[in-house]
Amino acid sequence: MNSPSAGIEARAGASGGKLAEEVARRRTFAVISHPDAGKSTLTEALALHAKVISEAGAIHGKAGRKSTVSDWMEMEKARGISVSSTALQFEYGDCVINLVDTPGHSDFSEDTYRVLTAVDAAVMLIDAAKGLEPQTLKLFQVARDRGIPVITVINKWDRPGRAPLELLDEILDRIGLTPTPLFLPVGIAGDFRGLLRRGPAESEGAPAEYIHFTRTAGGATIAPEEHYTPEQAADQEGEAWTTAAEESELLSAAGQDHDQELFLAGQTSPVIYASAMLNFGVRQILETLIELAPPPGPRADLAGTPRVPADPFSAVVFKVQAGMDAAHRDRLAFMRIVSGEFERGMVVTHAQTGRPFATKYALTVFGRDRTTVDTAYPGDIVGLVNATALAPGHTLFSDKKVEFPPIPSFAPEHFATLRARTADKYKQFRKAIDQLDSEGVVQVLRNDTRGDASPVLAAVGPMQFEVVTARMLTEFNVETHLDFLPYQLARRTDATSAPELARQRGVEVFTRTDGAMLALFGDKWRLQYIQKEMPALTLEPLVATAD
Ligand code: G4P
Repeated sequence: MNSPSAGIEARAGASGGKLAEEVARRRTFAVISHPDAGKSTLTEALALHAKVISEAGAIHGKAGRKSTVSDWMEMEKARGISVSSTALQFEYGDCVINLVDTPGHSDFSEDTYRVLTAVDAAVMLIDAAKGLEPQTLKLFQVARDRGIPVITVINKWDRPGRAPLELLDEILDRIGLTPTPLFLPVGIAGDFRGLLRRGPAESEGAPAEYIHFTRTAGGATIAPEEHYTPEQAADQEGEAWTTAAEESELLSAAGQDHDQELFLAGQTSPVIYASAMLNFGVRQILETLIELAPPPGPRADLAGTPRVPADPFSAVVFKVQAGMDAAHRDRLAFMRIVSGEFERGMVVTHAQTGRPFATKYALTVFGRDRTTVDTAYPGDIVGLVNATALAPGHTLFSDKKVEFPPIPSFAPEHFATLRARTADKYKQFRKAIDQLDSEGVVQVLRNDTRGDASPVLAAVGPMQFEVVTARMLTEFNVETHLDFLPYQLARRTDATSAPELARQRGVEVFTRTDGAMLALFGDKWRLQYIQKEMPALTLEPLVATAD
């Protein structure tokens, strides 16, 4: 019952070569950046280069937002944030690129972490004037923890900013990643004329060529490029060229040349200077992704055995999103395909319940666009409609059972109780809580003292609470009341230590839906005091991730 039809199996066998070809031409990545560094602008610029759109402004453009009636989008607009995480797939040359969107605000860093479990590479986008910002640092750490290779893009070079090498030093000093520029800017920040393409390591920094860009009106279309030899560039750009060429030599002298092995090992990062707004350097970003970023590879299952792309179908759910669009008020589970060919309509098994799962409604979603997906390959992101049983971290498979490790939860730092404003809505309220909990919108904590009518919600950032109350109202028609609790940190405990902890002043013990027991503390001093007084109690830090 839970294996795909014989027809699909036969096709997968016959199309082994095709599958390998499809895998080899895929690149799946996410952009990580501090809000305002230009992630949306870059996404549009990439789409423009891939001819998905004909003019910049079509995907995240203000006009588009205005016409969206979703309250969800209203909230995003009011807050200037992007909550709904989606994926854009486009073909570029012979390649298929999957760009997975990450939420911009740090309150949703747990979502970003989940997205980073679904990609093979990340583009770290930095504002040339601001350098590394807090959210860039946090997200970079997450990418590093996951062992994802990082390509660095220094954006907004068309605006006054810092010196090119100073920004590189900052990356090296603050995150210990060795930047190895592939392209250097010709012209200081604010006078962006083009890019110097560096030669291979053995050329000791000698430039390979000069790419000159021409501005287009409002940066709405692809910026035309002209290519020149270094000699021509020196004639044409004078000192701006000489400076860039000297910088290239300095970098080579310091050993900052691209090395594919070190890049894949997460020790170095190729750098490209760009202006997403003017479309300068955007083609170079795409080509770097294609040439250097890894194609989909193996993923270890729970037992540590690698599941390779040629294996039968398997996928990991990394994101559940509901209420993305008022016109389609439904719930989408996004899966990243790990192995095998996906065909819409195939019946797969949901590893967590052992139940068959029909994949009749499979979509790709980007912004407000939804397209039916008939076939997909490892590396691709597919949204499954109304897949209520699926939650982040779940596995879908065909053939023999496989299960991937769960995605760890972040340590929550904000706690509040939630209750329905009127008692008659209690049933819907409970249903909604279960739903939001399983989607991973917030963590839900319960204990006997507080009961089910006002569970405790635990979040990484307070904006997650806003999402809960907004969705309670719009999707479940329940008005709720939120009361913040005076706790700031949580520790994992166990059934043996729980009774003693619960007796302590200023401590409360809860069970999270995944079964973990959490003790909440008002501050770290209270925690330290209890640890000192009662060293035998189990009090372990929760997964340390982006903090
Ligand atoms: P985000 O998704 O990372 O939050 O950033 P977003 O693309 O929304 O860009 C933030 C601001 O930075 C926008 O300006 C955008 O136009 C600008 N920007 C992005 N890339 C570049 C670039 O390469 N050069 C310059 N000069 N600006 C860039 P805004 O004033 O907030 O919005 P808008 O009125 O321009 O749309």
